Amino acid sequence: MLKAILSKKDLTLFREYYSCVNDLLDSSEVARLHEFGHHIGTTRFQHSLNVSYYNFLLCRKLHLDARSAARAGLLHDLFFYDRKSHENVLRSHAEEHASIALYNASLAFPISELEGDMIINHMWPMTPHLPRHRETFIITFVDKFCACAEVIEYATRSTGKKCKVAAMSAAMLLMGLISRR
Ligand SMILES: [Fe+2]
Ligand SMILES: [Fe+2]
Repeated sequence: MLKAILSKKDLTLFREYYSCVNDLLDSSEVARLHEFGHHIGTTRFQHSLNVSYYNFLLCRKLHLDARSAARAGLLHDLFFYDRKSHENVLRSHAEEHASIALYNASLAFPISELEGDMIINHMWPMTPHLPRHRETFIITFVDKFCACAEVIEYATRSTGKKCKVAAMSAAMLLMGLISRR
């Protein structure tokens, strides 16, 4: 069953969403993301799926390009190395992985200018270039939201406490703090 964090919905049965990304989900490039841990307690695939799904929902709600939002969400962290064992003194991880993800995505799939902007600028404001599209501002928010939710869900799972409301409140607070940096 394919499901996003905080959701019980089987995404393979959610046609409006699934039809936007099924070709990506069938690809070996996206499948490779299962091999890598991401943040704490999740995989890069699950994190990318989380971002894709909530990016889709939010952009659909705001009457923006929800299809591109779903696709860019799934591809925004398409890099194949373990961050802990990867060192680059020339650029920050925030800048480097976003440009590698765009490069990898462009090699494997047709990427529109909007999708490219969402992928390469998803770490803003930790990267210098201002997003060019409203959808890109949305993904910067959704990415941080999902990262916080993943870490907090892992922490609550590990300690055996059921405090989803408190966890989500903390996630929102954290997200606000990060976005202000
Ligand atoms: Fe990222
Ligand atoms: Fe991410």
